[in-house]
Amino acid sequence: MSDLSVLKERGLAELQACADESALRAWHTKYFGKQGEVTVALKKVGEVAPAERRAYGQEANRIKESFTEAYQAALASRKDQEINRSLAVDKIDVTLPGRPARRGRLHVATQMLRVICAIFSDLGFQIYRSREVEDDATNFELLNMPQDHPARDMWDTFYTTTPGVLLRTHTSPGQIHVMREFCPEPIRVILPGMCYRYEAITTRSEIMFQQVEGLAVGTKVTMADLKGTIVAFARRLFGDDREIRIRSSYFPFTEPSIEVDVDCIVCSGKGCSLCKRSGWLEIMGAGMVHPAVLKNGGYDPHRFTGFAFGMGPQRITMLKYGMDDIRQFWANDIRFLRQF
Ligand code: FA5
Repeated sequence: MSDLSVLKERGLAELQACADESALRAWHTKYFGKQGEVTVALKKVGEVAPAERRAYGQEANRIKESFTEAYQAALASRKDQEINRSLAVDKIDVTLPGRPARRGRLHVATQMLRVICAIFSDLGFQIYRSREVEDDATNFELLNMPQDHPARDMWDTFYTTTPGVLLRTHTSPGQIHVMREFCPEPIRVILPGMCYRYEAITTRSEIMFQQVEGLAVGTKVTMADLKGTIVAFARRLFGDDREIRIRSSYFPFTEPSIEVDVDCIVCSGKGCSLCKRSGWLEIMGAGMVHPAVLKNGGYDPHRFTGFAFGMGPQRITMLKYGMDDIRQFWANDIRFLRQF
């Protein structure tokens, strides 16, 4: 019993003297490890004379309990001290201004698309969304390009594994969908959307790019309406004194077909590197809707006429901002995108 009272005093005194958590853990091993003093004292119960055994056992258990309690309390208090110390050292000044969160923005391609849509909606055009996965008939045949028509070579095509199903090469097949939906009403719509071409990727050509198609159909729609619409659009987008130039061209689905240039936004027609000294920048293909296409859309070509145009907003964005590489649009380089 006297051994136990020595053990009790010494153990508690040593516990008090432990300066940190590792000293506490060492203390615990010393008293409660396999050969620890409390462990050994408990094992000794069997060796004590029977008359003293009960008292000895009770005292040894009391020591075990009081040591365990004191150890847990000391451990908790050291942990508190450690937390208080680290709070004091790593103090956070909550009055400091926070780091500003970077604001997201619309992609430059989306911005341009919205500007173009806004201009045409001011001119009375509705916006019509047409599908990106098309059938051969709508992308080509109904646009006056039967199988094996040489003009199909103008549009290198991504075909799907389903026969006759392809990714649209231009937004023009949307003309057929709109006409069939609106017929016999007059039409004034634009059709923005993504197109796909199986082409070599270059600084000016992507395999995936946007187009904005325009279509007007009515009983009195003329080439003069097409010209007026394009001039109004070019002036809103590029500036009030812009001039346009019309060149004859060829598309199977328009007759006559034209290509439209705007006088160079940098040199106003004098000639510079952007316009390759020509003074003009090409902005779209257009023309009067071919009678065969009107018929395929359900309209009587003897009563109705229409104009259509198709432009590439990315090429227009490149002109507007003097960009030299179309691949930057989808490269996801945040340094490029942040400029707009
Ligand atoms: C067409 O796609 C005709 N459907 C346009 C049209 C519509 C004519 C209605 C008449 C009536 P084109 O292949 O030229 O035409 O393309 C039109 C515009 O799309 C081009 O002027 C160009 O700005 C853009 N474009 C064409 N190919 C690419 C490409 N690979 N990468 C980026 N833009 C392109």
